[in-house]
Amino acid sequence: MQNEIAIDELVAEMSQRIAAVTTAETENNSVPRFNQLKTVAYVNAEFRVHDDIPEALKQGIFSQPVTYPAKLRFANATQKDDSEKDIRGLSMQLSNVEEAVLWGKAGLQDFVLNSYPALFVATPEDFLAFIRARQQGKFKMLLFFATHLKSLCTVMKSRKHCLSPLDIQYWSTVPFRLGESGNQVVKYSAIPCSDYKTTQVVDAGGNQLRAAIKAHLQQSSACFHFAVQLQTDPESMPIEDASIIWDETVSPFVPVATITIENQDFDNPESLANGERSSFNPWQCLAAHAPLGRMNEVRQLVYANAAALRNRTRSNDNE
Ligand code: HEM
Repeated sequence: MQNEIAIDELVAEMSQRIAAVTTAETENNSVPRFNQLKTVAYVNAEFRVHDDIPEALKQGIFSQPVTYPAKLRFANATQKDDSEKDIRGLSMQLSNVEEAVLWGKAGLQDFVLNSYPALFVATPEDFLAFIRARQQGKFKMLLFFATHLKSLCTVMKSRKHCLSPLDIQYWSTVPFRLGESGNQVVKYSAIPCSDYKTTQVVDAGGNQLRAAIKAHLQQSSACFHFAVQLQTDPESMPIEDASIIWDETVSPFVPVATITIENQDFDNPESLANGERSSFNPWQCLAAHAPLGRMNEVRQLVYANAAALRNRTRSNDNE
């Protein structure tokens, strides 16, 4: 078992190295995100909480059948060219939420998901080892994966070609509390439910996923079910190992809300710039949805520091 590093030390070293890596990748005076760097689309949506949710799951924002306005950011993890294999991201920010947030701006509730149900590393210590390797260049990255074969295997399985970000499933991969009292623990997922499906590449090329979203919305609105998966066995569904998939046959995802995206004009420089400027944080949430585990603990300040750096360089730009 590896030695644990204190959370504040992890945050300090990760933030410093992420700042160095992303600053070195600056293009057109803007520092990119460390992960999910390409904004494929930044769209308005609505998040409608269902009125037939099982009693135990009626917690936090799911306690009443309310419809929240939402902003959704679809992204590629590492590739600027949409035709390449990659992990895709879906970040969501609900507004008009009434209860107090744990961190961040009042009225918001964020969910940060990506297109594979497990992370490529188990612990924040392993994530730090990856960040060190990434900063040190290609050879060290190869060495990292040569010495972390499960990570290599997860990365190979999770990077895929995609016809449309509206047709794939997304997962939180790490767990969250559900409810302020009691001990319910869940993972989240967004499961596509549109009638329309993209069946072939739309406008082949670097921005083909943006084109696919546009073509889909011009035909018909897009739909995802937002669902929660209860932890039913702490042994096989651990909180502290982000590399383990919680078996969906043992505990299936239960839909609690529907996300609808209507046709809109998002393929323009202003919308994409807003997507670049946007920021999400798993801690910008109600206490009833508190992030759990050390991996999530680290993310609070690492994300805040990364977003502050990105947006500081942008505002200097405009001066
Ligand atoms: C210790 C663990 C992690 C670290 C250090 C980390 C680091 C980061 C950083 C620095 C960013 C850029 C933030 C910004 O510039 O605003 C980011 C974004 C992101 N990460 Fe993580 N991450 C971690 C775990 C995870 C996990 C478990 C997921 C699973 C869903 C995830 C999914 C994402 C996504 C989807 C984004 C894009 C957010 C956006 O649209 O702004 N990350 N991550």
